[in-house]
Amino acid sequence: MAIKFLAIFVALSGAVNGAFTKRATCADGTQIATRESCCVLFPILKDIQENLFERSQCGEEVYESLRLAVHDAIGFSLSKGPSGGGGADGSIAAFASVETAYHANSGIDDIIFAQAPYIAAYNITPGDFIQFAAAVGVSNCPGAPRLEFFLGRPPPTAPAPDSTVPEPFDTVTDILGRFTDAGFSPPEVVSLASHAIARADFADPTVPGPHSDSNPTIFDSLTKGSFKAAMAKLAVLGQDVRKMVNCSEVIPVPPKIATRTHFPIDITEKDYSIELPNVWDVTDRPTEMTEPFGV
Ligand SMILES: *[C@@H]1O[C@H](CO)[C@@H](O)[C@H](O)[C@H]1NC(C)=O
Repeated sequence: MAIKFLAIFVALSGAVNGAFTKRATCADGTQIATRESCCVLFPILKDIQENLFERSQCGEEVYESLRLAVHDAIGFSLSKGPSGGGGADGSIAAFASVETAYHANSGIDDIIFAQAPYIAAYNITPGDFIQFAAAVGVSNCPGAPRLEFFLGRPPPTAPAPDSTVPEPFDTVTDILGRFTDAGFSPPEVVSLASHAIARADFADPTVPGPHSDSNPTIFDSLTKGSFKAAMAKLAVLGQDVRKMVNCSEVIPVPPKIATRTHFPIDITEKDYSIELPNVWDVTDRPTEMTEPFGV
């Protein structure tokens, strides 16, 4: 009888454990993360929101941090293997002298320099920090998707080779080819490159197109989901996700915007894909931007 009761009890407690995710109280007593290993992120979050992003603004540093996250991650190749780069491993920061010399990375040294003190001050790898900063930064932008964040990228071992980051003068075929080699499908490339956020890096402001939208809407809900999914994939390129911890709950919930989903008057959803030839990089942006993902 007693044994039977015990068996039922064990079965029940197993069910209870499965139903309720364990939560951990972090050192400061107030922040609670699903996984205790995510606790290390809260002080970093507070610091970068206050300082790097100048009180949680959606500004130039967000713009640059996202660009850095993309440029670091795309240093990955299915065909070349390890010699094609380690993906989202932080190599762009750890081997900055090599990777910032690549043409596609021109101007990226500023944000590497701005992020370096945080990487040095905290117990976090450059790969984790770069993707974390991008996800946190994007969360400051009204209407943005809440990006996922996984923690646990090992330190980078080598710089990515040159020519992993597509450039504006590359043909569509070349751009798609490069992304396919990194594991992306054409629709995923479109959601990354033609999305409103793509203005941060991929759009050429001299070419009339979606980026000439005069409405300050940052993200439209039509592409938000696919962008979030594509970014989630990009952020762990070359990484073993089974060894990483899902710390997405640490990423703040982006503020909402009041305006409805829309496309600019003379631009349809279809036109977004036509943008592809010109969408890659911007090196001559204005240095001061109040709305990096808007106009
Ligand atoms: C990561 O965790 C968030 C909740 O914090 C969840 O919504 C998301 O689906 C998880 N992602 C994966 C890939 O498991």
